[in-house]
Amino acid sequence: MIAIRPYAPADLKTLVALFTAAVHTLGAPHYGPQQLDAWAPRPPDLETWRQRFEAQHTLVAEDALGPCGFVSWRDDGYIDTLYTAPRCARRGVATRLVQAAEDALSAAGVTELSTEASLAAWPFFETRGFEVVEPQTVTRRGASFTRFLMRKENAA
Ligand SMILES: CC(C)(COP(=O)(O)OP(=O)(O)OC[C@H]1O[C@@H](n2cnc3c(N)ncnc32)[C@H](O)[C@@H]1OP(=O)(O)O)[C@@H](O)C(=O)NCCC(=O)NCCS
Repeated sequence: MIAIRPYAPADLKTLVALFTAAVHTLGAPHYGPQQLDAWAPRPPDLETWRQRFEAQHTLVAEDALGPCGFVSWRDDGYIDTLYTAPRCARRGVATRLVQAAEDALSAAGVTELSTEASLAAWPFFETRGFEVVEPQTVTRRGASFTRFLMRKENAA
């Protein structure tokens, strides 16, 4: 059973550990070790994450063992983060989280959703009806990454 609930400040360390594991495990087929280290440095910068979670809407998916994923988005419909714990991958966690984000944005009257999806995530977003607008190359901590700007019309 997976429950969806709002983020609480006490989740910070657990969610950042989940992010780090998701990147280094689920991202590994798509990016090299230097890129993974630049995306998810070890140790992580907890303060940056604390500010990010506080500035956005964040939902946590949880099963009997604890958090197994999270999503965060901005008021303008931009989905900023989406990570599933490796132990929970391909069990519909991200589907539940993004559905909940889309429902909240619909309720707020936001009709256009966007994201910048990694090579690991764009097939997921495609199954949700997002379309690739353009590929992007971004540089983070000295490493260069390919990702895709994607958009979707949200039901009002
Ligand atoms: C992308 C990610 C969030 C997907 O999480 P998930 O909980 O495993 O996704 P779901 O189980 O809800 O997947 C639903 C459907 O999306 C598609 N999908 C999900 N992951 C996929 C993958 N790696 N490759 C191809 N299709 C994928 C499949 O159609 C899947 O349905 P199926 O399992 O019945 O085939 C997760 O793999 C992850 O955290 N990746 C690493 C971090 C990352 O790139 N995050 C996004 C930053 S933009």
